[in-house]
Amino acid sequence: MADFVLAGVMGWPIAQSRSPVMHNYWIEQYRLNGRYVPLAVRPERLADAIRGLPALGFRGCNLTMPHKQYAMTMVDDLTDTAKRIGAVNCIVVGEDGKLSGTNNDGNGYVLSVQEVVPQWKPSDGPIAMLGAGGAARAIIVALLERGASEIRLINRTFDKAERLAKDFGSAIKAIAWDKRGDAIADVALLTNATNQGMTGHPPLEISLDKLSSKTLVSDLVYVPPETPLLTAAKARGNVTIGGLGMLLHQARPAFQAWFDVMPDITPELRTAIMATFNQ
Ligand code: ATR
Repeated sequence: MADFVLAGVMGWPIAQSRSPVMHNYWIEQYRLNGRYVPLAVRPERLADAIRGLPALGFRGCNLTMPHKQYAMTMVDDLTDTAKRIGAVNCIVVGEDGKLSGTNNDGNGYVLSVQEVVPQWKPSDGPIAMLGAGGAARAIIVALLERGASEIRLINRTFDKAERLAKDFGSAIKAIAWDKRGDAIADVALLTNATNQGMTGHPPLEISLDKLSSKTLVSDLVYVPPETPLLTAAKARGNVTIGGLGMLLHQARPAFQAWFDVMPDITPELRTAIMATFNQ
């Protein structure tokens, strides 16, 4: 019998994470011997929990809110992408027990757009990004690594957008929140990386009147799977990309690192995750 492989996700709280459904679906689909478990880890115990992974026999874990930044100092090695983003969303335990931190969020985002529009490239034209938090940072790094030449960073707190522009160079243009309706007019891609539109929050307030019908409109929010922004964009005839794709695509390389199989994203998997929103 093959070794039992353990992986999981650390967060605080953790009940909202859809990662266990996704990874355990794949474990069953590929008839593997293992389990992916939710781990409720308080921030002050994060270092202990991460350092305990090899002793507990874990191959690795994902990290979610609020642990992604703090975990940077708690692993042995970091990939260049994790360093540039300043956050870790995936840890792999090596044969020697060493902990390696990476971040698949930005790459997962790019793949989720290309799943809907295969010919799209980050260099196709200007990109408008709403929000300047951790999620925006991960995506900006992936877009820049793949040739994006102009990212209009539009954030309610202008200083934060300016800080990111300073960190990442002249391709990032910080734009004031009240200019958002004009700033999105001619972009190839519009991305919502704020929490607006998420269940429990108000819809994102933005006028799409000037938006080109050719602009791809994406939202990182996946609860609900179709946000008011995406509904409005769809009604105007824009192609839309929901946030679930990023969750699915960031998970594939993590699963491969732990379980040695590159899993597929099937309609059945999407259905299994969507079913958890109706519970
Ligand atoms: P994450 O790690 O998911 O990106 P975050 O770092 O808390 O989360 O970032 C949340 C983003 O949503 C920020 O860009 C935040 O804007 P501020 O920098 O001004 O706080 C944005 N956001 C939160 N509430 C908002 C609101 N009511 N209107 C517009 N943007 C909002």
